[in-house]
Amino acid sequence: MTRRTVRIAMNGVTGRMGYRQHLVRSVLAIRENGGLDLGDGSILWPEPVLVGRRDLALKAIAERHGLDEWTTDLDAVLTDASIDVYFDSQLTSAREAALRKAIAAGKHIYTEKPTATGLDGALDLARLAHAAGVRHGVVQDKLFLPGLLKLKRLVDGGYFGRILSVRGEFGYWVFEGDWQEAQRPSWNYRSEDGGGIVVDMFPHWEYVLNGLFGRVTSVQAHAVTHIPRRWDERGRPYDATADDAAYGIFELDGGAVAQINSSWAVRVNRDELVEFQVDGTEGSAVAGLRRCRVQHRAHTPKPVWNPDLPATETFRDQWQEVPDNGEFDNGFKTQWELFLRHVALGTPWEWDLLAGARGVQLAELGLRSSAEGRRLPVPELSL
Ligand SMILES: NC(=O)c1ccc[n+]([C@@H]2O[C@H](COP(=O)([O-])OP(=O)(O)OC[C@H]3O[C@@H](n4cnc5c(N)ncnc54)[C@H](O)[C@@H]3O)[C@@H](O)[C@H]2O)c1
Repeated sequence: MTRRTVRIAMNGVTGRMGYRQHLVRSVLAIRENGGLDLGDGSILWPEPVLVGRRDLALKAIAERHGLDEWTTDLDAVLTDASIDVYFDSQLTSAREAALRKAIAAGKHIYTEKPTATGLDGALDLARLAHAAGVRHGVVQDKLFLPGLLKLKRLVDGGYFGRILSVRGEFGYWVFEGDWQEAQRPSWNYRSEDGGGIVVDMFPHWEYVLNGLFGRVTSVQAHAVTHIPRRWDERGRPYDATADDAAYGIFELDGGAVAQINSSWAVRVNRDELVEFQVDGTEGSAVAGLRRCRVQHRAHTPKPVWNPDLPATETFRDQWQEVPDNGEFDNGFKTQWELFLRHVALGTPWEWDLLAGARGVQLAELGLRSSAEGRRLPVPELSL
């Protein structure tokens, strides 16, 4: 086996996603597996170069994981010809400028979503990357979750018949930060810093709906800030200027209707933090992060509405578990491996910056729909 190295500048590794999911659970996990077998007699070995603003924080991470390259100088790392890939998991508002620089420097791009804070910027990035001839990818991790992979298997196998509707419920209570520390960074709750649940979650809903059921053709959303005052990482109160809940209805190509609630101000009474119920003429399914359960039309009970009587059936028990029929790896890692193969071998890849721009578009139109109180068409994007 020959070993090929791919050098990846990873910007934002001190953050929640950058550290845990991208560095530790993906890039370092690939190294722990002995690298990525490219299937052509060679192994691809990812070599991360940590990039960030705080030297000491980067040094601590590097030491913890036996890495020896880190820098606070993004420009220098981008002019370093030995760097192949630029990865970005900074806070959203810092992303577009960094991606532009990296594309101009001829680096392949892999980035967290949303790719930019507005559609114009997101489309421009896609066009620039295309023109520069670099390879580019956007994190669409939910597609690689076991629950959604099983759901996709059902869709591809024709389980549902005609799909009528998708009901998504996402969210949990994010503490305000006064009497209990908030479990998300405070910039998420300030629109001036790129925060807000629409900007954060609608890009996910776009690729989930598009990837499983059909392109989103219209959006109607109601975005609200339920909790207007929160406390930041240092315990200081601030005004939450961004939406913390969004109630959205999406029409899909093919006629299905999706309705997804997203909220950081909801207490969980579900089996998982996100769940999608899909109803079709032949059967239905409920999928979460890991599990997926189904009910075929032949097993569908016939409840009769009678509020005078207690419920006679335990409806949840009437669903059947979809088996794993395989092993599921961490979704972020799976997508990293596909991206690195794409970089090394040019294998097919669909989750590029144009796909990322569709997510930004849906968020932008969702916010506009909410502000204007009307349903908006979602035009198809092209380069
Ligand atoms: N794919 C997913 O499921 C998922 C989940 C959560 C967040 N995200 C995305 O990942 C990105 C990072 O989110 P996170 O939750 O890890 O955030 P975080 O606040 O934990 O991390 C932000 C990172 O950006 C860096 N940064 C650069 N400039 C900064 C500045 N001016 N102020 C503050 N931090 C700055 C920080 O040092 C840190 O490394 C966001 O764009 C978010 O949309 C994706």
